[in-house]
Amino acid sequence: MRRRVIAGNWKMHMTCSQARDYMSAFLPLVADAPDDRDIVLAPPFTAISTVADIAAGSRVQLSSQNVHWQENGAFTAEISAEMLLEHKVKYTIVGHSEPRKYFSESDEQINHRARTAQGHGLIPIVCVGETDEQRERGEAERVIRRQIEQGLEGLDANKLVVAYEPIWAIGTGKTCESPEANRICGLIRSWVGATDLVIQYGGSVKPGNIDELMSMSDIDGVLVGGASLKPDGFARIANYQEA
Ligand code: 13P
Repeated sequence: MRRRVIAGNWKMHMTCSQARDYMSAFLPLVADAPDDRDIVLAPPFTAISTVADIAAGSRVQLSSQNVHWQENGAFTAEISAEMLLEHKVKYTIVGHSEPRKYFSESDEQINHRARTAQGHGLIPIVCVGETDEQRERGEAERVIRRQIEQGLEGLDANKLVVAYEPIWAIGTGKTCESPEANRICGLIRSWVGATDLVIQYGGSVKPGNIDELMSMSDIDGVLVGGASLKPDGFARIANYQEA
């Protein structure tokens, strides 16, 4: 069975002291979670060290929210794989729709980030997904396929997570219906041609819809934004039981 990966993306939330409070509430709630799943938190860079220290020896693993493709250098505001590995970071989110939208990240840049991540032993979580307008114009599959083909070029599908995050479902409370999310995840799996590829769904995941989402055949995990900010709610998500 493919590994389950339940990840919380804190985005630009949580100071170090807030992260400490979160972790002391969260860790006891996930201590007995089943072994079939990785429980992952992606704090902002400033809180990674704090969360890593508290999470050591627990069920929680770390992700970053980005990684640069160069080893080091004059890249203001970026972060290198080596800097992340020092804090035992395991995953790194690349190609999220927010940097795609606000910083015009291209599929080529995303691919460079993901390749460098894999080269250092980090597992990239490569995000793909269509806008509302693209879905209404019937372009969703074409857009996602292009993101997959360009973003995943040259990557090892066994050391990778793909997150299908329809942009219209992010932070809107409008979850993609489970069968439709599952259909797109199945298409992604067939385009990549790797039966073992771990594929997440993301977009308004919450305690009330996690069990149904995780019972879908092609959904192996979730990437959670808003609902990962509350330790009890995210613990319920991490402790999901298939419907
Ligand atoms: P929400 O769960 O807040 O919709 O955010 C999803 C997301 O962008 C996770 O990366």
